[in-house]
Amino acid sequence: MSTKQQLLIYLKESKGTWISGEFLAHKIAVSRSAVWKHIGSLKDDGYVIESSRKKGYLLRETSDLLLADEIREGLNSNVFGKGEIIYFAETDSTNVRAKYLAVEGAPEGTVVVAEKQTQGRGRKGRTWFSPASEGIYTSIILRPPISPNEAPKLTLMASVAVAEALLSLTSLKINIKWPNDILINGKKVAGILTEISTDMDRIDYVVIGVGVNVNTSRKGLHPDIRQTATSVFMETGKVFPRIALLRAYLEWLEIYYEAFKTKGFDPILNRWKHFADIIGRRISVNLMDSMRVGTVLDVDKDGFLILQDRKGTIERIISGDVTLLSRE
Ligand code: BTN
Repeated sequence: MSTKQQLLIYLKESKGTWISGEFLAHKIAVSRSAVWKHIGSLKDDGYVIESSRKKGYLLRETSDLLLADEIREGLNSNVFGKGEIIYFAETDSTNVRAKYLAVEGAPEGTVVVAEKQTQGRGRKGRTWFSPASEGIYTSIILRPPISPNEAPKLTLMASVAVAEALLSLTSLKINIKWPNDILINGKKVAGILTEISTDMDRIDYVVIGVGVNVNTSRKGLHPDIRQTATSVFMETGKVFPRIALLRAYLEWLEIYYEAFKTKGFDPILNRWKHFADIIGRRISVNLMDSMRVGTVLDVDKDGFLILQDRKGTIERIISGDVTLLSRE
């Protein structure tokens, strides 16, 4: 453990009370000036630490940055987030970073996280607005023992994990819009971008990228999405601890991933259907080059939408943008 990490442990143990520089230096076996230097570095990381010549140091607030050590602390998982967590104050896209790491052989469960993305990517070539320190922008590497045509199931799995994480930490009503938009009060709070690399008929790696609008204010949202997007802050009126939400997401993702590998897709699909509340609804679906309107009969065992139009024709839809139409 580094000197800085040891220092942080002592500060956290006595959070809100003063602790002398001499005591810290003695406990960690470094000089007082080394303590001072590392305190400065912790402040740069976003920890609010008061200093006094007479009294020493006092930790007022832990950092809200998504720092690897903070994420790991109290993380109740076995694999996800237990290995490498790669943190960027700023990067182009965590999915792009994760793909590079995966190609270099990074193991399953490697997590990439950024405070800010300059080229955050959404589905269908869209951009994902990623302002600094207001949201969660994270990607995880998986190496599932499944065939490539099963990969869409993993996106549904991730949407369920995000929904469970939000549900477990807030009293908000969470919905999933097929296939994987997470909504609160009909507005999008989170999105998922899954990218896969295949090798013949097996998956080499999957990168699941999740973006959540956590503490974004209405003004902070990009004007293009102000009507359709929301954030946890906008829905609750309270600044929300991003770290807690990220931890909960990793924990739920691991639970569902394990269930997927041992019990198959059914437990995920059932939970997904619960959050989606789409069966029996009239919807329109924007496909690449056309549009369909109809009633959702089911979401099948592969996660595809079964849609029946007014003439009774039934179609299986693999991907598209859904709009819920008013109930008849
Ligand atoms: C969508 O269009 O709904 C998907 C948005 C996915 C955004 C996340 S943010 C972290 C990861 N890195 C990216 O560049 N995109 C995903």
